[in-house]
Amino acid sequence: MPTSSPLRVAVIGAGPAGFYAAEHVLKSDDTASVDVYDRLPTPFGLVRAGVAPDHQKIKNVTRVYGKTAARPGFRFFGGVDYGRDVSLDHLRKYYHAIIFATGAQIDRRLGIEGEDLPRSHSATEFVAWYNGHPDFCDLQFDLTQKAAVIVGVGNVAVDVARILCRTHGELAATDIADYALEALRVSQIQDVYVLGRRGPTQAAFTNPEAKELGEMEAADLIIDPAEATPDPISAKELADNPDRESVRKLEMIQSFAGRETTGKPKRLHLRFLVSPTIIRPAADGGVGAVDIVHNEIYRTDRGGLRPRPTDRTSTLDAGLVFRSVGYRGVALPDVPFREDWAVIQNVDGRVTDDDDHPVPGLYAAGWIKRGPSGVIGTNKACSVETVNQLLADAESGRLPEPHDPSRDGALGMVAAARPDFIDFEAWERLDQLEIAAGEASGRPRVKFTTVKEMQEALGRAGPRRMRG
Ligand SMILES: Cc1cc2nc3c(=O)[nH]c(=O)nc-3n(C[C@H](O)[C@H](O)[C@H](O)COP(=O)(O)OP(=O)(O)OC[C@H]3O[C@@H](n4cnc5c(N)ncnc54)[C@H](O)[C@@H]3O)c2cc1C
Ligand SMILES: NC(=O)c1ccc[n+]([C@@H]2O[C@H](COP(=O)([O-])OP(=O)(O)OC[C@H]3O[C@@H](n4cnc5c(N)ncnc54)[C@H](OP(=O)(O)O)[C@@H]3O)[C@@H](O)[C@H]2O)c1
Repeated sequence: MPTSSPLRVAVIGAGPAGFYAAEHVLKSDDTASVDVYDRLPTPFGLVRAGVAPDHQKIKNVTRVYGKTAARPGFRFFGGVDYGRDVSLDHLRKYYHAIIFATGAQIDRRLGIEGEDLPRSHSATEFVAWYNGHPDFCDLQFDLTQKAAVIVGVGNVAVDVARILCRTHGELAATDIADYALEALRVSQIQDVYVLGRRGPTQAAFTNPEAKELGEMEAADLIIDPAEATPDPISAKELADNPDRESVRKLEMIQSFAGRETTGKPKRLHLRFLVSPTIIRPAADGGVGAVDIVHNEIYRTDRGGLRPRPTDRTSTLDAGLVFRSVGYRGVALPDVPFREDWAVIQNVDGRVTDDDDHPVPGLYAAGWIKRGPSGVIGTNKACSVETVNQLLADAESGRLPEPHDPSRDGALGMVAAARPDFIDFEAWERLDQLEIAAGEASGRPRVKFTTVKEMQEALGRAGPRRMRG
C-alpha cells in the first residue's frame, strides 16, 4: 500500500548526486516534496569546491540544479550538518525516506614515511583551499619552494598541476579564491613532477585533460620517451584490446614525449612507472626530497596489470608534496558503513544492515554510495537508480510512516537546530553578490570563503553557532 500522506524525502548533501536525486523524486511524483540539507551554507558540493577554477564551463551544470530548486516541493537547508545539527531520529520523525549523498570528504593515505611532514599535503586540502571551501580557507601552502611533487595521475592530479603552472593572468580570469590568487601570484615553483605508478596506457586522467597539459602558456611539458613507451605486457594488452580512448591517450603522450623545451618559465614533468617510497625532510623539518622507486608492470592472477618495485631508485629534490591518490568517504552516525570500501553499505542504493537486509527508508547516492570515481554526469544515473528503489518501496508500502509528515514540522526542527540556516533564496542572493563582485575585474565571481562573510552579506548579525 502506498504511503498514507504525500511522500516526504530528505536528501543529505547538495552535490550533484543530491540534486539529481531530488530532481528525480520531484519529476516522478508531483505530490512529493524534498528537503536538501548541506553542512555548508552553499549548495553544489564539488562543483563549487572541487571543479578547477580554470574549468568554468563545467560549472554551468549548476543551472540544471537551479531548475530543480525552482520546482514546487523543493527546499534547501544550507549550513545544517547531519550528525552535528540533525540526527537520524530527528529526520525519521518528519520524512518517509532519507537519501545520503554526502560524497567523499577526505583523502586516501599513501602509507609511506614522511607523509605527514610539513609541506606534504593532500590534493583534497589544496583543491578545497584554492576553491574557497570555508573549512580550508585558513590553510597555508609554502609556494616559495622551487619544486613540487604530485603523486598520482588522475584528473585531480592534473587539476593541481595546471593550477600550479598557470600564469597570474590566466588565474585572474577565474573564480579561484582571492587569497589563493594572491598566493599563487608570488609562487616560486618552477618544476612540477607528476608521478604515475603505472605506465602511460594505464594513466587515470582522461584525454582532454591530458591534452591541456601539453598546451600550457607558461610551462613546458616534459616526458621521457623511454617512460612513454609501454612495457611489453601493457603493449600486448593494448594490442589485444585496442580501446579508442587508450590508443589515443598513448598517441598523445608519445607525441608530447621528447618534445624540445621552449624556455617557458615552468617545467611540468610527467613521469610513469615510478612510486614515492620516502618523503625526506629538509634541514628546516619540512619536505626536502622524495625517494622514488622505478616500477615494472606484472599481470595479477585475476588478469589486472599492477605495478611492482624494481631495484632502481632515484631521488627528486622538492620542497612540496601533494598526494593525489583518491578521495575517501566518511562514515555517518547511525548509517551502516563498509570501512574497506569507505562507502555506505547498500545494494543498488538501498542501505543494508550487516545481514544484507534493506534498512527501511534509508538510501545512498553518488560517491558515498559507489566510491570516489566518475564525472558529474555519472551521478545522474546513480541517483536515478537509487530513487527508483525508493519509489518502488513507497509504492509497495515498505517505507516507515513519519510521526509528523508536515513540511512545517521539518522546518521547525531545522530552525530550532540552526536558526541561521540558509535557504535557496538566501543562496541566490549570495550568488548574485558574488557575481556582481566579479564583474568589475572581469571574473565570473568573487567567492565568499567564510560563513561569517556570507551571513554578514545577508545582513544577518553574524553566526551564533556556525564555524568559519
Ligand atoms: C577536485 C575534483 C575536481 C573534479 N572536477 C570535475 C570536473 O571538472 N568535471 C566532472 O565532470 N567531474 C569532476 N569531478 C567529479 C565530480 O565532482 C563528482 O563526480 C561529484 O561531485 C560527486 O557528487 P556527490 O554529490 O556524490 O558528492 P559531492 O559533490 O562531494 O557532494 C556532497 C555534498 O555533501 C555535503 N555533506 C557532506 N557531509 C555532510 C553532512 N554530514 N551533512 C550535510 N551535508 C554533508 C558536502 O558538503 C557536499 O556539498 C571532480 C572531483 C574532484 C574531487
Ligand atoms: N576534468 C574532469 O572531468 C575531472 C577532474 C577531476 C576529477 N574528476 C573525476 O573525479 C574522480 C576522482 O579523481 P582522482 O584523480 O581523485 O582519482 P582517480 O582517477 O582514481 O586517480 C587516482 C590516481 O592515484 C593513483 N594512486 C592510487 N594509489 C596510489 C599509490 N598508493 N601510489 C601512487 N599512486 C596511487 C592511481 O593510480 P592507479 O591507476 O595505478 O591506481 C591514479 O593514478 C575521477 O573519476 C575523475 O575522473 C574528473
